[in-house]
Amino acid sequence: MDDSKIKIPYHVGIIVDGNGRWAEEQGKKRSYGHKIGSENLEKLSRYILSQTGVKILSVYVFSTENFKRSKEEVDYLMNLFTKKFKSDAKLYQKENIKVVFSGRREPLSEEVLKTIDEITEMTKNNTGGILNFCLNYGGRAEIIDATLKISKDLGQNKITEEEINEDLFAHYLYQDLPPIDFLIRTSGEYRISNFMLWQASYAEFYFPETYFPDFNNDEFDKAILEYTKRDRRFGGNHYEKTNP
Ligand code: FPP
Repeated sequence: MDDSKIKIPYHVGIIVDGNGRWAEEQGKKRSYGHKIGSENLEKLSRYILSQTGVKILSVYVFSTENFKRSKEEVDYLMNLFTKKFKSDAKLYQKENIKVVFSGRREPLSEEVLKTIDEITEMTKNNTGGILNFCLNYGGRAEIIDATLKISKDLGQNKITEEEINEDLFAHYLYQDLPPIDFLIRTSGEYRISNFMLWQASYAEFYFPETYFPDFNNDEFDKAILEYTKRDRRFGGNHYEKTNP
C-alpha cells in the first residue's frame, strides 16, 4: 500500500489476551506466557508510541474480574506488574512517554500502588505519547465512579444539572482522554469484556488470531493496514475525524 494513504489512529486500545494459551500450547506454565507477554508489551508499546504516529495507547492488563483467577496466578501477575513497572520506568522516561493508570485502587496492594504512583509521577511531564495501563479496571465500574463524582459535584453546587452532557461526563472518567479509534483484541476472542465501554463506542474493532506474546511490531503494522481500509462514518454518511 502507498504509505501516504495510511491512516493512523490517534488513540489505540489493546485487549491483551492469549498469554496463558500461548504458554500451555508449548507445555509451559501460564505464568511463563504472562512473563513473555509483559516483555512484548513493553517493546510493542514503545514502538507504537514512538514510531507509528499513534498518540495514545490504552492497554487492558488486568480487569476487576481477573481477581477471580487462582490466587497463584493473581499473585504472580501482581508481582510481575511491580517488577516490570519498576524496571521499565526508565525506558518510558527515555522515550518521553507519559504513563498513566486507570482503574480502582482497592484492593491493589501497597506495593503495587507505590510502584504505579512512582512511574506516574516520574513521567507526568512527558509529551511523547500517553501509555494508559488499565489495571484493576472495569468499564462499568468507571462509569459508576464518574457518576458518583458528578453526583458529589452536583451536591456541592460545583456544576448544575443543565451542564451535564456527554462532553462533561467524559471529563469525569478516570483519564481525560479522547475516544478510542481502533481497538485490537488478540487471540481470536471476539468480545469487549468490559473494556472502555464509554470510550470505545465508535471504535473500529480488529480481532487477530495471534496470541499476545506473538503480536509484534509487524503484526501491529498489519493491523494499521486493516484500519486504513475502514470507512468511519460515526452514524453519518461521510468519514470524519474526531481527534486532532
Ligand atoms: C488475559 O488473558 C490477560 C491477562 C489477565 C494479563 C495480561 C498481562 C500481561 C501481558 C502482563 C502485563 C505486564 C505488565 C507489566 C503491564 P490471558 O493472557 O491470561 O490468556 P488466556 O486467555 O490464554 O488464558
